[in-house]
Amino acid sequence: MSLIRAWAAQGPKQALAPYQFDPGPLRPEEVEVAVEYCGICHSDLSVWNNDWGFSQYPLVPGHEAIGRVVAVGEQARGFLQVGQRVGIGWTAESCMHCRLCLAGDQHLCAQAVPTMVGRHGAFAERVRAHWAWTIPVPDGLDAGAAGPLLCGGVTVFAPFAAFGVKPTGRVGVVGIGGLGHMALQFAAAWGCEVTAFTSSESKSAEARGFGAHRVVSSRGSDAIRAIAGSLDLLLVTVNVPLDWAALLATVAPHGRMHVVGAVLEPIPVNAFDLIGRSAVFRGRPPARR
Ligand SMILES: NC(=O)c1ccc[n+]([C@@H]2O[C@H](COP(=O)([O-])OP(=O)(O)OC[C@H]3O[C@@H](n4cnc5c(N)ncnc54)[C@H](OP(=O)(O)O)[C@@H]3O)[C@@H](O)[C@H]2O)c1
Ligand SMILES: [Zn+2]
Ligand SMILES: [Zn+2]
Repeated sequence: MSLIRAWAAQGPKQALAPYQFDPGPLRPEEVEVAVEYCGICHSDLSVWNNDWGFSQYPLVPGHEAIGRVVAVGEQARGFLQVGQRVGIGWTAESCMHCRLCLAGDQHLCAQAVPTMVGRHGAFAERVRAHWAWTIPVPDGLDAGAAGPLLCGGVTVFAPFAAFGVKPTGRVGVVGIGGLGHMALQFAAAWGCEVTAFTSSESKSAEARGFGAHRVVSSRGSDAIRAIAGSLDLLLVTVNVPLDWAALLATVAPHGRMHVVGAVLEPIPVNAFDLIGRSAVFRGRPPARR
């Protein structure tokens, strides 16, 4: 295999600069993909800056890749073929033999390896992943726009399927950034009544354009308290502290507060807010189910 040209940071917060590396022989279960497009997710920034403490340098970011298969390892299963359009998201490999992998919960595998940690990501000519983590992309999808579905998109879509959200459901989305703008569109397309929580007044019209029926300030505790008990699913995509008590109070009986934003500070949860409303507080990594 020839050298791969990429963009890499040599340390936390250092500028990306051209970088070449030898990927070594393709492992038997791996697939190599020529990158056509790659999204940018806030997790790229957090790993780049070593906010989570496990970054490895030189770091080639990029985990929302769309491209064409250029090589298939000799033990790769499935139907992947050279020339096929595929995507690679947050995870590039998992052990495939632990209880979780065998149950279809590969995203929870203790040995799962992110595409851009300990491996080189997709801000590069080519990127590699295990065949099971190389996702076929339908021809009908606009390849130039599909990348963000591989991480941010699946992260905010999965709860709709996993929690059985109904079209009559009332969904709130906190933070209208990369994940949030997709979540609004999924919620609206699902048929739900959609509330956008944003700290940016200037995003109000855009949020409505993405499908929000009402827009509430994510920094306005009174405005949040005013809609207490009105949401069946509250999707939190911010990575900063907010008025968690007020936000949790927006969850209706049997509702859920689902945190996907990588908030580094602890989020206090009052047990009685859960008990009294039979509510659920949870999080999740990028996953299809
Ligand atoms: N769990 C998972 O599987 C998973 C997957 C992908 C990403 N993530 C994480 O999800 C988070 C969001 O990623 P992203 O790509 O959507 O990031 P992003 O585009 O930067 O969006 C984050 C949004 O949070 C809000 N925000 C930022 N700073 C704020 C502040 N000081 N006060 C109030 N609101 C603030 C902003 O929305 P408003 O302007 O609307 O307020 C911003 O657009 C990141 O932590 C990322 O690492 C998790
Ligand atoms: Zn496993
Ligand atoms: Zn991501």
